[in-house]
Amino acid sequence: MTAAKKVTVGIIGGLGWLGSALLTSALANPKLNHVHFVVSSRRSPSKALGDRVTFTHDNQYLAEQSTLVVLSVRPQDWPSLPLTKIDSTVMSFMAGTSCEAIQQRHHPTHLIRALPNGACSVNQSYTPWFCASDLPSETETLIVNLLDSIGYQDRYEHEDQIDVLTAISGAGPAYPALLAQGLEQSAIALGIPADKARKAVNATLQGSAALSPDLSQSPGETVALFESYQGTTAAGLAAMKASGFSGAIESGVRSAYLKALHFNQPKD
Ligand SMILES: NC(=O)c1ccc[n+]([C@@H]2O[C@H](COP(=O)([O-])OP(=O)(O)OC[C@H]3O[C@@H](n4cnc5c(N)ncnc54)[C@H](OP(=O)(O)O)[C@@H]3O)[C@@H](O)[C@H]2O)c1
Repeated sequence: MTAAKKVTVGIIGGLGWLGSALLTSALANPKLNHVHFVVSSRRSPSKALGDRVTFTHDNQYLAEQSTLVVLSVRPQDWPSLPLTKIDSTVMSFMAGTSCEAIQQRHHPTHLIRALPNGACSVNQSYTPWFCASDLPSETETLIVNLLDSIGYQDRYEHEDQIDVLTAISGAGPAYPALLAQGLEQSAIALGIPADKARKAVNATLQGSAALSPDLSQSPGETVALFESYQGTTAAGLAAMKASGFSGAIESGVRSAYLKALHFNQPKD
């Protein structure tokens, strides 16, 4: 049996939330044992990154060493990134930054847009990804193994679907947190002490997540199940629906989607 070819993955912004989660999880994935990592940041790492990781402040050096370059800087920091041409495959994590814009600036061999979420730090991200071109099978396997390391991934056919999902899965814990905040405030308004209200709400959300480990489970069926009891929860659900709960969510998702579409466009 021949040893797997050495592959180097460069992570620009590799000390950030998503970049460091990808690094940690990929290092622990046995399918990526042959991969070496080069990580860049403007600051220096506060702890050793391990034998298979090289740290640099020099993004040009990182790009020259890497088979695959992961762009994990904030979209606002990307225009000032001191790096133009990248002669390898690029995978961008940047929200709202189109393939066209990245292609024009970096001219990579292949370009992937992927959109993880904050749960990547607990290996529970849902990561949609898109690539306009056919990928060599070893590159596709590398992408799949990297993204599987931080949770779940699906390849999509149209770039616009990444912008739509930026507004949904990309938001990670944010929308559940808004629901939790509303429940916490309601509990306090009805006389529950603040510390117990918080504990009750957080425990309820944790329990809900633990009850739905099957990703094909229908949320609509869960709502219908509680409606069928015709009890207190059904009364709460009916009042929330009548107050425009679904409309509020739809309008929030549309606003986030529009922001994703126009995020990095120059202002007039
Ligand atoms: N967090 C999320 O939930 C989420 C969800 C979907 C998509 N995304 C996307 O993922 C990307 C990363 O987000 P994040 O949350 O991980 O942000 P983050 O924690 O701020 O990480 C970005 C990192 O980029 C580094 N950086 C900035 N300029 C740099 C440069 N010139 N060279 C090297 N490193 C540089 C920063 O470190 P230094 O200041 O030390 O340079 C920072 O640690 C963003 O584009 C975001 O749109 C994030």
